Amino acid sequence: MSMLADEIAVPPTIAIGLAAAAQRLKRMSASARLDAELLLAAVLQLSRTQLRTRDTQALGAAQMQAFESAILRRENGEPIAYILGEKEFWSLSLLVTPAVLVPRPETELLVEWALQCLKDSARPALADLGTGSGAIALALARERPDSRVIAIDSSAAALAVARRNAQALGLPQVEFRLGDWLAPLAHEIIDESATEPANERVNSRFDLLISNPPYLAEDDAHLPSLQHEPLQALISGVDGLDAIRHLVQHAPEHLKHGGWLLLEHGATQGAAVRDLFQARGYADVTMRRDLAGLERATGARWMAA
Ligand SMILES: C[S@@+](CC[C@H](N)C(=O)[O-])C[C@H]1O[C@@H](n2cnc3c(N)ncnc32)[C@H](O)[C@@H]1O
Repeated sequence: MSMLADEIAVPPTIAIGLAAAAQRLKRMSASARLDAELLLAAVLQLSRTQLRTRDTQALGAAQMQAFESAILRRENGEPIAYILGEKEFWSLSLLVTPAVLVPRPETELLVEWALQCLKDSARPALADLGTGSGAIALALARERPDSRVIAIDSSAAALAVARRNAQALGLPQVEFRLGDWLAPLAHEIIDESATEPANERVNSRFDLLISNPPYLAEDDAHLPSLQHEPLQALISGVDGLDAIRHLVQHAPEHLKHGGWLLLEHGATQGAAVRDLFQARGYADVTMRRDLAGLERATGARWMAA
């Protein structure tokens, strides 16, 4: 593999370094120039605008070496977010490490939908199942400071990242729990033999359960291009629907009357997910498309009998 410094005949400047790096990244990235700018901006601790206004500035040997190592990681398919150690989601700057999925812009659709569902609820209770970096839980907590938010993940390493994000963003009302999907909410389940009045017991349930669960099939063709992200965040059984089946089945045990379950899923899974919601007896089963027009999320309300 050639080195940037070898490809550049003259003493490198920002403009020359960027052009050489973008040329190299073109082989594997559809956003080669942007990638090169983000990586060099991080190395030099400048904004992308500053890079453009200083494009004749010389790059020193240490700067070239740091840039080279970032370009090598990108050439190896590593997501930019892991190289930079951060990703913006819902205008929040989130720490990301290889322990968590890189939050995707499509997931903002789920946050937007959740906020609409909660607009008439005062002090809503909600839980983000499979929180990863904390993206959904933290975005909702930022928008609804009156809410009680529980964020769950079965990965202790992911929860550690999410906790750091909550701390950095000053969102202490988010409570983190380690465990399998809804299991950490077990003590929140209504105890049918409890003696308190029914209306008080209902308050221990949730207005909204939300999840961007793993939804790829074990043999999904996209997996090789996602090799740097945690498998636990990506794969869910032979058809990719194991987690979604579990959540659709068990969420009613934790939802208030009229409470919502919102799930992100794969673009080809819309019909199957709708069927699951309908078969379980939910009301108002609704699908949302992403900006590309793909079926991206399905949600419904649980109307307790
Ligand atoms: C697709 S990622 C979503 C991360 C984050 N919510 C987002 O949208 O960027 C799915 C998350 O579910 C977690 N997960 C997988 N299996 C789980 C389980 N059985 N119980 C709880 N969380 C689980 C993974 O660790 C991962 O963080």
